[in-house]
Amino acid sequence: MLEVRGLRAGYGGGRMIVDGVDLRVSAGEIVTVIGQNGAGKSTLLKGIFNLLPTRQGEVLLDGAPVGRFASHQMLSAGLAYVPQHHSVFPKLSIAENLRMGGFLLRDRALLARRVAAVEEMFPVLAQRRDQYAASLSGGEQRMLEIARTLVMDPKVIMLDEPSIGLAPRMVDLVFDTARQLTRLGKAVLMVEQNVRKALLASDRGVVLELGRVRLEDTARALVDDARVAQLYMGVRQDA
Ligand SMILES: Nc1ncnc2c1ncn2[C@@H]1O[C@H](COP(=O)(O)OP(=O)(O)O)[C@@H](O)[C@H]1O
Ligand SMILES: [Mg+2]
Repeated sequence: MLEVRGLRAGYGGGRMIVDGVDLRVSAGEIVTVIGQNGAGKSTLLKGIFNLLPTRQGEVLLDGAPVGRFASHQMLSAGLAYVPQHHSVFPKLSIAENLRMGGFLLRDRALLARRVAAVEEMFPVLAQRRDQYAASLSGGEQRMLEIARTLVMDPKVIMLDEPSIGLAPRMVDLVFDTARQLTRLGKAVLMVEQNVRKALLASDRGVVLELGRVRLEDTARALVDDARVAQLYMGVRQDA
């Protein structure tokens, strides 16, 4: 579904922050990228979405190269991206936020059908469709951001730290939402600092260090890995 080959990306000035990453996410699968602050996780997602000035390598969606696409072309091709920086429109209603997710759809009837289908999947949002998005809790706002991408019916959804700043119950809500996407056959590529919970919600995990893949395994194996526990879950070696 999503395949990244030899991706190198940076902000200009010659230094490559993402320095040769290969990864693959299949339909129905959540792959989570973990790594310390500054490891290049956000840069990796921006690089995949072609948002950076310096970039080499290939990005394939169902085997078709999309690496040179502009954002709107990526969205139309089936790749969605929810950035780390929160992006709900607080002064628009929940329903209007969902419609914004389909701004590329010219066919108004199709847009209405897609929004209705998304509302059916997320009763919490449907019940409050006419309220300001600002009235939602933090976790529900993340849910709205994720739901909004579904209006374009993407194949692959990239989420940058969806659980950041949320209370534990809301973290569960967000990871449940990600899991819900995979039941629709979507592929999810997620970046997370909430390592243990994110891995427990995922199928596979990738450890990024200094812009390179250091470890790659099933999420379960990474949760049980002593090095991962020590470096990324705050577990002391002698604990
Ligand atoms: N807009 C930017 N311009 C220049 N350097 C940046 C920018 N954003 C991030 N960086 C640098 O890229 C590196 C990786 O950052 P980032 O991808 O945000 O890490 P992570 O998401 O893993 O915490 C850091 O050294 C950071 O200073
Ligand atoms: Mg980041």
